[in-house]
Amino acid sequence: MDARDELRELIHQAKEHLLYYRDLGLTNIGEAVRPAMAESLPVRAEQPAVIASTSEPEPVVEPPVIHQPEIQMKKTPAPAIEALFETDSAIKETLEDIRRDLGDCRRCKLWSTRTNIVFGDGNPNAELMFVGEAPGADEDASGRPFVGRAGQLLTKMIEAIELKREDVYIANTLKSRPPGNRNPEPDETAACIPFVYRQIAAIRPKLIVTLGNPATQGLLETKVGITRIRGTFQDFPLIAGIKVLPTYHPAYLLRSPDKKREAWEDLKKVRAFLRGEI
Ligand code: URA
Repeated sequence: MDARDELRELIHQAKEHLLYYRDLGLTNIGEAVRPAMAESLPVRAEQPAVIASTSEPEPVVEPPVIHQPEIQMKKTPAPAIEALFETDSAIKETLEDIRRDLGDCRRCKLWSTRTNIVFGDGNPNAELMFVGEAPGADEDASGRPFVGRAGQLLTKMIEAIELKREDVYIANTLKSRPPGNRNPEPDETAACIPFVYRQIAAIRPKLIVTLGNPATQGLLETKVGITRIRGTFQDFPLIAGIKVLPTYHPAYLLRSPDKKREAWEDLKKVRAFLRGEI
């Protein structure tokens, strides 16, 4: 490789890194990339395992979280939630009721770093629901789920099975953005996941597609990884008759386009299921 090829390769790798950080929703790309690139660029070629990894990405940047100890953590009222899962329950919340109860949520520490709560949006009577991990930078700024690059890919995935984005409902396991898009922490998931359960109880979709590990493991209460469980129909543990089909997260597909073929196989199953063909 001559010097010019080497430079071209370096530029290519730098671009890959920038796209990767942008997929994760980091806006301050300069700060995020500088330390990581300094470490990884020279050795990247010797680290194919990292690039080819099938696991979800590791957290990249963790800006300091401002702790506000004077704020009391509130718990979601558990007994009400249990009642909502009875199919014949007289208690039926609407999405508006749930949004109202969520309020200006301070049930976990993420309130102090988020800009907007991202509740979820779409068809309140959807047969198909998508559940992702947590808002990224674009979602935090707009208050809407999946509007960044991963969101654009999700929209294409929905359209590929001949549906429109407005036909489905899209939500996340966390309603507030974890700083630097790090993975959700257990206390954050514990505080927030009841809200997506309640959204599911209100919508009662036929099928939920979970995107990536946190959503899959959170909804199915399992530790099985996405690579093993994807593309298999599961029962939603809290409401009889609702199926869950895990697949890869679109942000992961943007970084690992070779996985799109498997994701497409999963999407075809979604389409066949909704058409009553399987
Ligand atoms: N990734 C998610 O998991 N959810 C979003 O809303 C956006 C990106």
